[in-house]
Amino acid sequence: MQLDFSYYNPTTIHFGKNSLAKLNDELSHYGETVMLMYGRNAIKSNGLYDEVIAILRHAGKNIIELSGVMPNPTYKKMMEGAQLVREHNVSLILAVGGGSVIDCAKGISVSAYCENEDPFQKYWVEYQEVKNKIIPVASILTMVGTGSEMNGGSVITHEDTKYKIGRVFPANVFPKFSILNPEYTFTVSQYQMVSGVFDTMSHLMEQYFSDQGANTTDYLIESLLKSSIDNLRIALKNPSDYEARSNLMWNATLALNTLTGLSKTQDWQVHMIEHQLGAYTDCAHGMGLAAISLPYYRFIYKFGIDKFVRFATQVWGISTEGKTQNQIALEGIDALEHFTKECGIVTSLEDLGATREMLPEIAQSTTIIGRGYKKLTTKDVLDILEACF
Ligand code: NZQ
Ligand code: ZN
Repeated sequence: MQLDFSYYNPTTIHFGKNSLAKLNDELSHYGETVMLMYGRNAIKSNGLYDEVIAILRHAGKNIIELSGVMPNPTYKKMMEGAQLVREHNVSLILAVGGGSVIDCAKGISVSAYCENEDPFQKYWVEYQEVKNKIIPVASILTMVGTGSEMNGGSVITHEDTKYKIGRVFPANVFPKFSILNPEYTFTVSQYQMVSGVFDTMSHLMEQYFSDQGANTTDYLIESLLKSSIDNLRIALKNPSDYEARSNLMWNATLALNTLTGLSKTQDWQVHMIEHQLGAYTDCAHGMGLAAISLPYYRFIYKFGIDKFVRFATQVWGISTEGKTQNQIALEGIDALEHFTKECGIVTSLEDLGATREMLPEIAQSTTIIGRGYKKLTTKDVLDILEACF
């Protein structure tokens, strides 16, 4: 299928070893108060925090800090940031970190001036259009996977209602610029690195397994999947391999900057299940995706068999000789599973902090999109979750 599309992406990317040098020029386009956001320890222990502070001071900015943004950022943290933005009349939100920090920054951007209303309800649950003032966001990426550095996605967890919801905001909420220096990712733990790469692969697969055709977008996706597989193997052996880390970084950006979704219907059911799994367990996003993907794809492949055969042959190099379509398709999913094991990706829900008692609520609260090869029922979601134990 070849759907019509319009394509525009407003984020400027500064990529490479010297990309932080672009920050000073970029800052000149914004007012005097910058809110610097980051996670817990990573950027302080690797020295990036000091470098960024020095550049902000040199540019004459007032600096407001929001630290402690947690993985799977919460509604409370977002609202804490929104209040700081209002109190200090912030003119740029600079997120330094992974997807969680950048997502939280976008959430703060749209929530700060959403007066007298609950922004989570309005923008994430009801998906209303943002008409209030928004604050520009920019990012310095330190952890690869989500693509948040070049998209409008913001995934926020409401800790009281136990809903983790992703919202894709339009172009005015995308980061204005993002600085991508692969060297910043050298300190990411192996656990987080493999989780992030599986997240990239999942974004690609969610977009790929959505029709039977083979348009240019499908060819792009296959290349990005192969590049992610090859470069993760290299980075696991040598985490400081600059070429491998830069390929993984750029793959992740391309996998969810809207380019690889063009002309396709897109599935996203694995992400919907993972989001609720994350709301209940706080697991690393990519690990949750890996756990769910294997039983999910084994459940739906029959309904999209041509594409699963193509996945097996083009991505994993499975031979076709003497095999049925069914065998080839299943061998492709087996290859994905072997790769997860080879890379130490955690695929047991128990190891991700889930209990069997949680599963009915996780299944019940999962949004069923119905755009993939087979529309799931809540019972199907529960069966998929149970298969991950
Ligand atoms: O808290 P700190 O100390 O910063 O440590 C972080 C965190 O513990 C650490 N880390 C980051 N950079 C590091 C580093 N450790 C050492 N060295 C560095 N250079 O990594 C841990 C995980 O960080 P996090 O930002 O949570 O990871 P990720 O980038 O995977 O983001 C996950 C969040 O993004 C959402 C997920 O649901 C999840 O909430 N997603 C956002 C999307 C989007 N915006 O489009 C799409 C995705 O599908 C996803 O849903
Ligand atoms: Zn994801």
